[in-house]
Amino acid sequence: MTDSLTIRRPDDWHVHLRDGAMLEAVVEHTARQFARAIVMPNLTPPVTDIALASAYRKRILAAVPDGMDFTPLMTCYLTDNTDPEEVRRGFAEGVFTAAKLYPAGATTNSASGVTDVANIRGVLEVMAEIGMVLCVHGEVTHADVDIFDRETVFIERVLAPLLRELPQLKVVFEHITSEEGVQFVESAGENVAATITPQHLHINRNAMLEGGMRPHAYCLPVAKREKHRLALRRAATAGSAKFFLGTDSAPHAKEAKESACGCAGIFNAPFALESYLAVFEEEGAIDAFEGFASEHGPRFYNLPQNEARITLERADCAVPAQIAADGTQLVPFHAEETLRWRFAG
Ligand code: DOR
Ligand code: ZN
Repeated sequence: MTDSLTIRRPDDWHVHLRDGAMLEAVVEHTARQFARAIVMPNLTPPVTDIALASAYRKRILAAVPDGMDFTPLMTCYLTDNTDPEEVRRGFAEGVFTAAKLYPAGATTNSASGVTDVANIRGVLEVMAEIGMVLCVHGEVTHADVDIFDRETVFIERVLAPLLRELPQLKVVFEHITSEEGVQFVESAGENVAATITPQHLHINRNAMLEGGMRPHAYCLPVAKREKHRLALRRAATAGSAKFFLGTDSAPHAKEAKESACGCAGIFNAPFALESYLAVFEEEGAIDAFEGFASEHGPRFYNLPQNEARITLERADCAVPAQIAADGTQLVPFHAEETLRWRFAG
């Protein structure tokens, strides 16, 4: 039995670091485990241009504790009015690594998102031309679509037609949650990949309703039936370069989660690698962990792999009930559980 695992230092290809005091509190959890992270731009106001992204990157770097080596990779929040030339210039200048498509109303701070992909056609053509990655929150937002079907309907109505029109566009289908999402990515070209979160590998939709309403198991896209969780576990652990690590760690104050209208988001950054590795071990796929965590992402984004190494040890890792942040508390994913691996640095 393996008691210690040393791999190339991983990256997180999807994270919410927030801003201000919350940023100060949470960034160290991501910077401790990951060399780089694709930082989501859904702030208020959203990060919609080069100036806002450069300023946000500076604030993130200033919040990283001394001695930690961490590079934030910035994303441009797309709106109906995004200027294609701003995106082109931001990518050329190395400010934007990717652009993010939030369908308007899909999730936290997405009100300024895109109301119809036809409205960003010019931006997407430029991105396809320059090889810039489009990160997609893949859910339709129409009231007539059942919330558990939003991802599948998005594939049919938006993503599949978009890729037929722009077959070169590089797309990361973010935080996929369904068997249909897995199948779509597997059958698409090499320009289509997906991130998978730890929570969607661990929980199905029962977790939100077991013995009462469980706001800390609520995120978007919402966890689906067990068969979807199993499909995601197979996809993540099979060794395919199309699937890689993206935590979607999304901190919200405890009281904002435990409310009559609780916020969507799971704060998994503090024990992200331990959480993922538990899944790979359960699936008998520890050998596939390094690819998923450290190799497939950089390959897709055309970035160098990290040279540093990290080690995880087989040892009990007790996850606290809560973690102090910004004058409040955050309830981490796996709160009060004991994980079997521990990040050793
Ligand atoms: O659960 C989520 N929380 N999903 C998202 O897409 C956004 C995120 C957030 O920003 O809180
Ligand atoms: Zn997210």
